[in-house]
Amino acid sequence: MLNQIGKLEQEVRAAIKAADDLGQLEEIRGSYLGKKGAVTTLLRGIGRIPVESRPQVGQQANALRDLIEQLLAQRAECLKQLTTGERWERERIDVTLPGRPVALGGRHPLTLILDEIKQIFIGLGFQVARGPDVESDYYNFEALNIPRDHPARDMQDSFYLSPQFLLRTHTSPVQIRVMERLAPGLPVRIIAPGKVYRRDDDATHCPMFHQVEGLAVDRGVTLADLKGTLSLFVREMFGSEMKVRLRPSFFPFTEPSAEVDISCVICGGGGCRTCGQSGWVEVLGAGMVHPRVLKISGYDPEDVTGFAFGMGVERLAMLKYGIDDMRHFFSNDFRFLRQFR
Ligand code: PHE
Repeated sequence: MLNQIGKLEQEVRAAIKAADDLGQLEEIRGSYLGKKGAVTTLLRGIGRIPVESRPQVGQQANALRDLIEQLLAQRAECLKQLTTGERWERERIDVTLPGRPVALGGRHPLTLILDEIKQIFIGLGFQVARGPDVESDYYNFEALNIPRDHPARDMQDSFYLSPQFLLRTHTSPVQIRVMERLAPGLPVRIIAPGKVYRRDDDATHCPMFHQVEGLAVDRGVTLADLKGTLSLFVREMFGSEMKVRLRPSFFPFTEPSAEVDISCVICGGGGCRTCGQSGWVEVLGAGMVHPRVLKISGYDPEDVTGFAFGMGVERLAMLKYGIDDMRHFFSNDFRFLRQFR
């Protein structure tokens, strides 16, 4: 009997020493001290041995049980205190492997163009202004000299949220908001980039797109300043050989008004499919701020004049990067987006 106890002790010492994790220690505890464990069985069988050897065997068996508990606790403590390095080794992590590269995002082509537009106008002394996407009928139409029954409202089929509020159809309402705030301060020189919304949807029109509004008000501002400013802008943006052409047009909030064409970026003016063989592409609307608009915003049209323009950002980006479908900007196709950084 005492022999058997000695053998059990050797066995259990070896097992505990070899255990690698807390789970294995629990298994060992079960197979020695559990209900059917070796030590438990031994203690239970003590009644079947001669009376005179019982005390000694009992004492030894109890001592073995205590020893096992102690060894288990020691080993558990030891496993918990493994250094990080030892744990890595056990888990077979090769810390010398090169890391996985993190995929770097790029900027959206419209962000790239917008940043470029802003930089050019900031360089010309303009400040960047903003207005809300949800605009009131007053700022989007009324104050821009587009009364309720005016046919010019049909030029922009709109998204109304209520009879009073709509998603702005252009960035021109920011003209009014800025002048109201600054009047009668001079000079006013701002651009207002942002989203605009119209009920349009095809390869060259999206229900949401971007415009950059421009506004300059001061004493003695003329149409020549407008053309000069826009010429500088397109030469910065597309190259020094670019030309600007103003064609008479109509907007209720400018007088006179113009559609502004730039030399076709694709063919350089010779004529191609993009420009419809004309050598010119239309990129913005512009004009001299209408006296009524100046007046309603707090400026004296007898004293000051101003020019304004509104350009389509997607249009410019399509020309700059040679993109043939406006919907590419918003379909989130990585094959398209990855080309820009
Ligand atoms: N707001 C006009 C449009 O969206 C563009 C424009 C802006 C025209 C400023 C003249 C002056 O069509």
